[in-house]
Amino acid sequence: MILIAPTLATAEELADTPAKQVSYFRDVRPIVQANCQGCHQPAKRGGDYLMTDFQGLLASGESGTAAVVAGNPAESYLVELITPVDGKSEMPKGKAPLSETDRQTIVQWIEQGAKDDTPESAKAQYDAEHPPTYVRPPVLTSVAFSPDGATLAVSGYHEVVLQKADGSGEFGRLVGMSERIESIAFSPDGSQLAVAGGSPGRLGELQMWDVTDRKLAYSIPVSYDNVYGVSWSPDGKFVAIGCGDNSVRGYEAATGKQVFFNGAHGDWALDTVFSKDGSHLVSVSRDMAVKLYEVKTQRFVDNVTSITPGALKGGINAVARFPGEDQVLIGGADGTPKIYRLFREKARKIGDDFNKIKDFPEMPGRIYDVAFTSDAKKAVACSSLDGDGFVHVFDVESGKKLLELEGPLHAIYSISVSPDNKRIASVGFDGKIVLHDLESGKQLKQFAAVPISPQTASTK
Ligand code: HEC
Repeated sequence: MILIAPTLATAEELADTPAKQVSYFRDVRPIVQANCQGCHQPAKRGGDYLMTDFQGLLASGESGTAAVVAGNPAESYLVELITPVDGKSEMPKGKAPLSETDRQTIVQWIEQGAKDDTPESAKAQYDAEHPPTYVRPPVLTSVAFSPDGATLAVSGYHEVVLQKADGSGEFGRLVGMSERIESIAFSPDGSQLAVAGGSPGRLGELQMWDVTDRKLAYSIPVSYDNVYGVSWSPDGKFVAIGCGDNSVRGYEAATGKQVFFNGAHGDWALDTVFSKDGSHLVSVSRDMAVKLYEVKTQRFVDNVTSITPGALKGGINAVARFPGEDQVLIGGADGTPKIYRLFREKARKIGDDFNKIKDFPEMPGRIYDVAFTSDAKKAVACSSLDGDGFVHVFDVESGKKLLELEGPLHAIYSISVSPDNKRIASVGFDGKIVLHDLESGKQLKQFAAVPISPQTASTK
């Protein structure tokens, strides 16, 4: 039984109302997204109760008791569950109670009739049975080879698509809550896929998927903006993300428990990587800095890059660790891939950029992603300028450019080298996965990352 107050307040009534009119879309939904939807969404239905769509939110779960009784907070089970008794509340389960302001917002909204003011455009809902449909290829932001080289995971809209790595067909769609997927990474043993994304300006989310059965293990809402740059510790025990609220966070992979938080950056943190032994974490940011932290103490240790004003040029988008070494490759707005050592061997002198080991030749435009071959002999970076994409392969030892991957390519945002170092996958603006031979630079194959169904085009 769904109860919605049938009347909408008229303009005069609204003008007369002294209490602020609470909007579901503007006020209530962000609270629910940040605190509840991680456990109450199509891919994870705690208590068989769904909060990602409005009807579900009003309805009941396994208890059979309506969560929301419009106009009557006292009769609403949801209110009972979020109201603290002795400082503890039933929901959000296992977490601190909602702030009193947030709780009051929900109570007031129910009091005022629990109306849905979600704009039509924001109503689309997707789940495994109703995956997104595409009338044209989506912009792709992330691609990753599985550790066994058999699978390519690629970001779509509201989902990650699993493709056979030879391009012979799609076989899995991991449909989740986040509209935009920014970054994906397989666990070192390939059994799990960590996904970072969100809905810009509303929600950030870390998803953890079990690859074999394609089930969501957990989803963690993170702040109110996208999250980026997910990485695994070498032992597969931890994952780290960079956040649109400038923080860098780390989680225990098995449980999703947050174990690391640092807010040292002055702008969005866009990528992360762990040190060789997993004891340290590195992040890069739009604030142009590369920062080093100790995982255990959550302490900021050092700026890997120079701190001299003017020495840094433009935000940094990507970081990858040199296999087997505590050295990283970074790339960003200045178009020059650079290798830095993580741990300072000399005290800092003002004006130095001591940790920098090497610059590779500059690429056109901005660099969006960087990678290594597993033998650490080759470094790869992709960049984009005016809609064109470039992928350059460098010789680590000499610092020289070995080759440019065969084009023409559209803007490229993400690359992944196959575990046998023979192929490289790149994705970007045109929605295709492009495979190149890493030795010759020749194009092997291009295929659509997601199924496109043009005949049902209702919107352009
Ligand atoms: C960490 C996971 C988790 C989070 C976060 C969470 N829930 Fe739940 N919720 C559950 C589980 C699991 C159940 C099933 C009952 C139980 O195990 O306590 C449940 C049950 C419920 C029910 C009862 C459904 C029914 O009819 O049986 C409501 C209502 C509810 N949650 C509301 C919320 C609200 C509101 C929030 C956010 C403020 C929230 N939950 C956050 C896991 C969660």
